[in-house]
Amino acid sequence: MNILITGGAGFIGSSLAKSLLKANHEVSIIDHFSTSYHVERKMEQVEQIKRIGPVAIHEFDLLDEEKTIAHFNEHSYDSVIHLAALPGVQPSLTDPHAYIDQDIKVTVNVLRAAGLSGVSQVLFGSSSSVYGDQEGPVTESIANGKVKSPYAAAKAGAESFCHAYQSLYGFKLTILRFFTVYGPWGRPDMAIPLFLTKLLNGEPIHIYGRHQSRDFTYIDDIVNGIFLALNQTNQSEIYNLGSGKPVRLEDLIRLLMNYFPDANVVDETFRAGDVRHTWSNIEKAKKDLGYVPEIGFEEGLRRTVEWAKNYHD
Ligand SMILES: NC(=O)c1ccc[n+]([C@@H]2O[C@H](COP(=O)([O-])OP(=O)(O)OC[C@H]3O[C@@H](n4cnc5c(N)ncnc54)[C@H](O)[C@@H]3O)[C@@H](O)[C@H]2O)c1
Repeated sequence: MNILITGGAGFIGSSLAKSLLKANHEVSIIDHFSTSYHVERKMEQVEQIKRIGPVAIHEFDLLDEEKTIAHFNEHSYDSVIHLAALPGVQPSLTDPHAYIDQDIKVTVNVLRAAGLSGVSQVLFGSSSSVYGDQEGPVTESIANGKVKSPYAAAKAGAESFCHAYQSLYGFKLTILRFFTVYGPWGRPDMAIPLFLTKLLNGEPIHIYGRHQSRDFTYIDDIVNGIFLALNQTNQSEIYNLGSGKPVRLEDLIRLLMNYFPDANVVDETFRAGDVRHTWSNIEKAKKDLGYVPEIGFEEGLRRTVEWAKNYHD
């Protein structure tokens, strides 16, 4: 298959690109190497992809509608996996307009360009944040728009545009709601990578409520879920991709203390915009796609700590 990954230089996109190349797909990437975190890290991620096989890298901003449409018309992609976005909950509180641009307008550009150029399948990387603060385990149908942050609102809005353009152009649409993804090459602004960097530097880590829990999902399981979704046959579906096993932050800290017994943990108050718990119901993905997460949290954390120590060195 000739597959385009938008945001392919990022954490999930680069891991996915490596796996798709290993499975002999033709892979192209569009990424503008945004400064949401170190550009050098994204360059390194691209180098990792290139080591696996040939990949076409197109460096431009998907916010440019004309360029995006022209690009899609020049290339005939079978499937588009749209992961380009500005992620992160807390920064969205201070810069909401950037999220409207990067998470909504960019998605509209990609959807229109895909539809106009006759792409047959679009997969959209959405987020557990669209559920707001609901008691889990959450099923796909219970997202009700009552979200907690501008990031989540942008993702929920982008999902609606996906439905609109699916209806207008008739491509096959799969919306995948990822639950807190972690693992080697994890996004540096997220809790586990951030904690590991601080712990390796001997700095204190700050947590904003020990009783919060997150449905941490290992990167390989997410990549596997995306793979399986490529073979999904229905016209329009939404799937949770999570582990289905939430971990309390106090348990995360306890496990980290096994590796960093001298860790200095500073308790802070809960932050507006965050949700208290995430917990996925993954029965639909299991049944329809055969998605079964394989990496338990303790093993995933062990691999992540090992990677972080080597990377830090
Ligand atoms: N990592 C998670 O835990 C998680 C959870 C839920 C949803 N998601 C979603 O999954 C997707 C990938 O997340 P990630 O963690 O890999 O993030 P990431 O920041 O590592 O990757 C996103 C990539 O998109 C690129 N990009 C952003 N705006 C662009 C634009 N206008 N033009 C071209 N490229 C652009 C960035 O340069 C970056 O390389 C995002 O849509 C995110 O919202 C991630």
